[in-house]
Amino acid sequence: MNRTLAPSKALFGNFSEMNSNANFQQFEESDLQAVVAVERRVMPFGWNLNTFRPCLYNDAYECWKLEKDETLIGYCVLYFIGPTAQLLNLCVDVPHQRKGYGRDILHFALARCRAKGVQDLFLEVRSSNSVAQQLYHSLGFKKIGQRKDYYESTRGREHAEVYSLDLY
Ligand SMILES: CC(C)(COP(=O)(O)OP(=O)(O)OC[C@H]1O[C@@H](n2cnc3c(N)ncnc32)[C@H](O)[C@@H]1OP(=O)(O)O)[C@@H](O)C(=O)NCCC(=O)NCCS
Repeated sequence: MNRTLAPSKALFGNFSEMNSNANFQQFEESDLQAVVAVERRVMPFGWNLNTFRPCLYNDAYECWKLEKDETLIGYCVLYFIGPTAQLLNLCVDVPHQRKGYGRDILHFALARCRAKGVQDLFLEVRSSNSVAQQLYHSLGFKKIGQRKDYYESTRGREHAEVYSLDLY
């Protein structure tokens, strides 16, 4: 299925206050190879094609990419369940990290949640991922729990920290 952007979504994807002509679009089947290549570069045990693909074909998910000059900078995946949503994936490619893009993508995800009337956004993050946790804290997320031994890791299992943000 080819998910062509409705004009309202295309407009929504341009944030004038953001970093550097950021251009958000929902990604499609044709983007998956590039997305998975970034995923492999950025983290061990990331998503593969079979993890991303179902999200493209289910209306409960939104998969957004951030491009600049036709270069894939990063992406996120959101899952909407009634008044709540989950941020399932957030990633910035290695050469573009630490330039504010991760924060931009997260702001964009929050705007999508607000546009869809979401009240609470949840996410899980590795206990060792202090970089992402700093980012979440800086946008007001609060740690609400922990899932023991949730992730595969290079040293066995690793806990997930569960964060949430009240959007209203
Ligand atoms: C987490 C991630 C998305 C951040 O993206 P980024 O574009 O590098 O982040 P930004 O430049 O927008 O920085 C936002 C904040 O994150 C934190 N941060 C980012 N890089 C950091 C680093 N190397 N060390 C410490 N804090 C860091 C800081 O709080 C920073 O705010 P500041 O610049 O005001 O200090 C990126 O590092 C990434 O893709 N990591 C691998 C995938 C991942 O961990 N995803 C999250 C899974 S839950």
